[in-house]
Amino acid sequence: MAQVACGIDIGGSGVKGALVDLESGQYIGDQIRIPTPDPATPEAVADVCRAVIDQLDVKPEVPIGVTFPAPVFDGVIPYMANLDQSWVDVDVRALMERHLGRPVVPLNDADAAGMAEVAYGAAKGHDGVIVFTTQGTGIGSAIIVNGTLLTNTELGHLEIDGHDAEKMASSGQKTVQGLNWDQWAQRLQRYYSHVEFLLNPDLFVVGGGVSENHEKFMPLLSLKTPMIPAKLLNTAGIVGAAYYAAHGRA
Ligand code: BGC
Repeated sequence: MAQVACGIDIGGSGVKGALVDLESGQYIGDQIRIPTPDPATPEAVADVCRAVIDQLDVKPEVPIGVTFPAPVFDGVIPYMANLDQSWVDVDVRALMERHLGRPVVPLNDADAAGMAEVAYGAAKGHDGVIVFTTQGTGIGSAIIVNGTLLTNTELGHLEIDGHDAEKMASSGQKTVQGLNWDQWAQRLQRYYSHVEFLLNPDLFVVGGGVSENHEKFMPLLSLKTPMIPAKLLNTAGIVGAAYYAAHGRA
């Protein structure tokens, strides 16, 4: 089993990568960040990923996981919410392998972050059904059952009261719509109680930058399921991508 793997996290504003120590879940050396090209077409982003691994000097035998802000089904993106629409139907595994010149494991960004939380973070040691959601421009989700990831869940796109859930309850929309914590918490209440009703999980873990301010909104929610903030925050996507590339499971 590899001791080191590389994670690359493709986001709307930056493509970030780092080498990860799989024992500790910590970065080895610095993270590289290159702004996401505009337009963020598959070829342009793949070139940036190549630059990231060149700068990190990733050796050919080191497993590489790459995250996308979209489901990745059998290497292909079926649907893209918040990045250039030219990604739809692209075989991103083939694209990345062509540009990076080696095997690549592509996966959804929230799946990666959720796995990182189970392997090294807030959900470590928790069994049962864990529903991880990551708050940002969209709402990403990962469902992990006794260590096994149910890949490509899209709980950010549940339709609630006639709205796409992430257009109503993401932290990005909190900013765009200028909602205060109380107003946003009301939307979170509607969202998470619906998810709870559908899935009856054992634990909710909430990630994304806003989870640093968890004391501003978690106490305002009334749920049966315990809810805790993520621990890895900014590193979760990269660490989870590296972990998944090396292990394939939690
Ligand atoms: C996408 C998900 C992604 C999430 C966070 C959603 O809009 O559909 O696949 O995980 O945003 O980036």
